[in-house]
Amino acid sequence: MQKTTHYKTIILGAGAAGMMCAIHAGEDVLVLDHAKAAGEKIRISGGGRCNFTNMYAGPENYLGGNPHFHKSALARYTQWDFIDMVARHGIAYHEKTLGQLFCDDSAKQIVAMLLDEMARAGATLWLQTSIIEVAKADSGYRLVVEGAGKRKVLTCDALVLATGGKSIPKMGATGLAYDIARQFGLAVTDTRAGLVPLTFSDKRFAPISGVSLPSIVSADGKSFEEAVLFTHRGLSGPAILQASSYWHEGEEITLNLFPNADPFGLLRAERQKAGRKQISSALSTLLPARLVDHLSDELGLKARLADQSDAALTELCEHLTNWRLRPSGSEGYRTAEVTLGGIDTDGLSSKTMEAKTVPGLYVIGEAADVTGWLGGFNFQWAWSSGYAAGTAI
Ligand code: FDA
Repeated sequence: MQKTTHYKTIILGAGAAGMMCAIHAGEDVLVLDHAKAAGEKIRISGGGRCNFTNMYAGPENYLGGNPHFHKSALARYTQWDFIDMVARHGIAYHEKTLGQLFCDDSAKQIVAMLLDEMARAGATLWLQTSIIEVAKADSGYRLVVEGAGKRKVLTCDALVLATGGKSIPKMGATGLAYDIARQFGLAVTDTRAGLVPLTFSDKRFAPISGVSLPSIVSADGKSFEEAVLFTHRGLSGPAILQASSYWHEGEEITLNLFPNADPFGLLRAERQKAGRKQISSALSTLLPARLVDHLSDELGLKARLADQSDAALTELCEHLTNWRLRPSGSEGYRTAEVTLGGIDTDGLSSKTMEAKTVPGLYVIGEAADVTGWLGGFNFQWAWSSGYAAGTAI
């Protein structure tokens, strides 16, 4: 007969949300994770400096089936609360751009801070532990887990699903939270890769791979002004990653290559001044020369400016400010920063993250159908939802 050990709370997943929840869940908390270390995504995030929150985080920076669900948790544990904790731990940080806060030194400081706070709260952490079975017990939950070759039976009053989404399976991402949610009768929406580079099967941008420029990228009515990067496989850069979360297979995206310039005014002035010039040489003062070269044949940019009517220049500018492209796909979960969709928030309390029909079962972080934009918003959701569940338990 295996000995059963009881905990008040068991949290599955020692990522951003799980650790935050453990800090606030009171006494008698066990956190389980199959990875070798806690917070691995935090460690590699933001190029090793972790974009841990955003100064302007608000409900409008999130996608999900219910556009109101995340409001309550975000309002009760804000970016300023997390910034306070970072400052209390003496971690130096800076704003990189657009309110995005990064560590000056290393993302490892954020992981160390969370582990330190967890230890202070008295939470226990078991790493390299597989979750073999989860079931409802007479009161609460019963789990069979395995670590260091040994199986253990655990029971708990509250069970928190914090195993994240499917992004980057190489780092240990699994669909465990979705499977357990389904097992207990919760709905799980379709999932797809978000904040992900877009691909073109004809590799049309391979010749200009590495070219980058500021643009406005739009998908499904949402626009983002940031850098676009042409790659071997297609398009990347922050503006594309942002738009990718709104893009659906088969749809077009549009690029405005002149977010802050008036190409028509420029080309008309150049025609007046130096009509013998080719259109391409005038455009090269505004766009990367390799990109102009790449578009040259398709758009007839070798023609002389003097030969262009106003209507022809207008048509050309329309093409460059509303460049319609139909990606063939995305790079998928292999490189996606997040998973769109997840456990349906209609089945969860927005105040506590507890499942409405399954008392004692909580869902936090990326496992739920709440996805932030690029720029620190996803970690803020992990902190806010982890806090909401932790303080409610
Ligand atoms: P998270 O994925 O952090 O944690 C889940 C935990 O559960 C992991 O420790 C995993 O090992 C464990 N687990 C999974 N399956 C399990 C199983 N079957 N058994 C046991 N344990 C299991 N966001 C942001 O705001 N700023 C940023 O700078 C970045 N940068 C970034 C870079 C990269 C490369 C990626 C992939 C992602 C980002 N993100 C980001 C997104 C951010 O990392 C993500 O939204 C949060 O980590 C989600 O937190 P969770 O705690 O929900 O899941």
